[in-house]
Amino acid sequence: MASGLWLVAIFMAYRNWKQELEDERPPRVVPWGFIARCAVVFVLLCTLAAGALWVWPGYLLAKPWQRPGPAPAELVIYFSNDVHGNLEPCGCTPQRWGGIARARGLLKGQDQSCRLLVDVGDAVAGKEHWQVLGWQQYLQALTTMGYQAANIGISELALDAETLRATAKDSPLPLLSCNVQDEKGQPLTKPWRQELIANLRVTVVGVVVPSATTKLGAGVRVADADEQLSRILGDLRKQTDVIVLLASADPAAMQRLAQAHPEVDVLLGGRVPQASREVELVGSCRLASLANNGQMIGEMTLGINPDGTAAGATSRMIVLDNDVPEDPQMLELVAGYNAQLERLNRTGGLAALGVEAVPAPAGAGRYVGAATCGQCHAKAYEIWEKTGHSSAYGSLTRRGRDANPGCVVCHVVELGAADGFRGPTITPDRIGVQCESCHGRGSRHVAARRNGENTARMGKVSPKSCDACHDCIHSPAFDYASYWQKIKH
Ligand code: HEC
Ligand code: HEC
Ligand code: HEC
Ligand code: HEC
Repeated sequence: MASGLWLVAIFMAYRNWKQELEDERPPRVVPWGFIARCAVVFVLLCTLAAGALWVWPGYLLAKPWQRPGPAPAELVIYFSNDVHGNLEPCGCTPQRWGGIARARGLLKGQDQSCRLLVDVGDAVAGKEHWQVLGWQQYLQALTTMGYQAANIGISELALDAETLRATAKDSPLPLLSCNVQDEKGQPLTKPWRQELIANLRVTVVGVVVPSATTKLGAGVRVADADEQLSRILGDLRKQTDVIVLLASADPAAMQRLAQAHPEVDVLLGGRVPQASREVELVGSCRLASLANNGQMIGEMTLGINPDGTAAGATSRMIVLDNDVPEDPQMLELVAGYNAQLERLNRTGGLAALGVEAVPAPAGAGRYVGAATCGQCHAKAYEIWEKTGHSSAYGSLTRRGRDANPGCVVCHVVELGAADGFRGPTITPDRIGVQCESCHGRGSRHVAARRNGENTARMGKVSPKSCDACHDCIHSPAFDYASYWQKIKH
């Protein structure tokens, strides 16, 4: 282009000069000197243009990525999944498992020469402000731990497009997804990341397969996973030794992806009820999955052939139990997060933390608090007062976790309901696990009984209602018969 313009300019100058010569009508002389100079300039320009054309497309088009040296014998992949905002173990039982401090404690102790560290997703607990802050802290923690990438999981899809875009932009750790987009079909994150690990060319690709019931955040669109993968995997295969796909998807979708995309060497997932015990071979793809609220780290050891291609693999799940040392730097990060929540709570209460205040369903009545129930059920009240349920909020204040909604939720009367717990000073009568945590809203029953009517009956409490709080993580020893004996009234 530039050289073309130069040529035109030179030609015009020559014509002008010739015209002037003709105007003055001098004897016709051939300007050999001028022509020679033009020729030199022309040759120079051509050489420059050819040089530029040779170098330029190398940058524009994907330059074949060469392995700079011999491939290592194996690649060790550590992966996390399903952390759901659990930056720390809950401390509900002496068995304090999981948390980022133990995760780093474990990873520090492993061989660090040839490894890949990735997060499959479902790292965010929800879309409320405090949960998004927790997710961003988690990404920060993963960066400090030396992670190379994190995938957008199904839980992350609940966030709005702007939050996803802003987090991906600010995150020190690359967030990946080849099929999460905004409403205009623009990608919200990078689709993949390439990394040279001990001479091995490794490409990590992110993908998510939401279920039919997944609610997408405002402005978020999820493109078809297979279509997007088919578009990019062929080219990636040509310049990579190992392709690792992070797939936040249910077991059936994971199998389908592994079968449909033979380019993928390793597939890590997913939305599974239980972590896989060993590597599953689906077609030529090595598949492993992990669950359990960040109580475990997955480890896959992938054999590498001399030509850099993937060979056999083994995997194991490492439980982050009490034997794994806690890393002090991560403990500080967790403390910083809780301090941040406390500051927000002090200045603006639960609203500043983004905890919703959903009105009670129509016809359900309202919460009235245990003291009101106690007016007529004196004996039940007396028994309840002596149980841990009545002092459950105190267990949090003692540990400095009373501003963390992730803890508060099971230690008060329905957090998130407009007539439930809204703060210790705003609703002191909703502190602790109360009668209505199990029996449900009581205002209609109270009104009826005060009128001497036997209409609004409270109904039976199902043993299942305990499970919402006494789940396998927060109360692993739970057994209805023996637990009921301790709070029987
Ligand atoms: C899913 C509900 C749930 C969540 C979330 C939860 N807890 Fe608990 N917590 C429980 C249950 C249930 C128990 C009783 C466990 C048992 O005795 O089997 C408990 C017990 C405790 C106890 C022990 C009380 C004692 O002295 O015996 C502490 C302390 C505690 N939780 C702190 C926390 C903290 C801190 C968090 C947040 C990081 C948290 N909990 C989050 C349900 C929850
Ligand atoms: C709203 C959440 C929630 C529900 C529902 C719930 N619990 Fe609890 N439970 C807790 C928490 C939190 C603790 C720990 C209290 C503390 O801080 O000491 C606890 C502790 C207990 C304890 C130990 C109490 C003590 O005094 O040592 C028993 C027993 C128990 N729960 C039984 C049950 C049974 C049985 C049910 C179902 C009928 C049930 N809980 C339903 C949250 C709940
Ligand atoms: C004005 C008095 C009064 C108040 C306040 C009251 N109740 Fe009752 N409740 C009764 C009477 C009377 C009965 C029937 C006799 C009995 O079982 O003790 C009853 C029965 C019950 C029953 C058995 C099922 C049923 O409906 O017959 C449950 C459970 C119950 N109440 C829970 C509660 C709870 C929880 C609260 C607080 C939200 C509460 N009550 C407040 C008077 C009251
Ligand atoms: C941890 C859950 C839980 C808490 C907290 C709780 N209850 Fe219950 N309550 C039950 C269960 C379970 C039963 C037995 C099954 C049933 O009758 O529904 C029961 C039974 C009752 C009954 C007898 C019902 C009948 O049919 O005879 C009354 C009355 C009652 N509770 C009132 C209260 C009052 C008042 C409080 C608060 C001071 C309270 N409960 C706190 C779970 C709870």
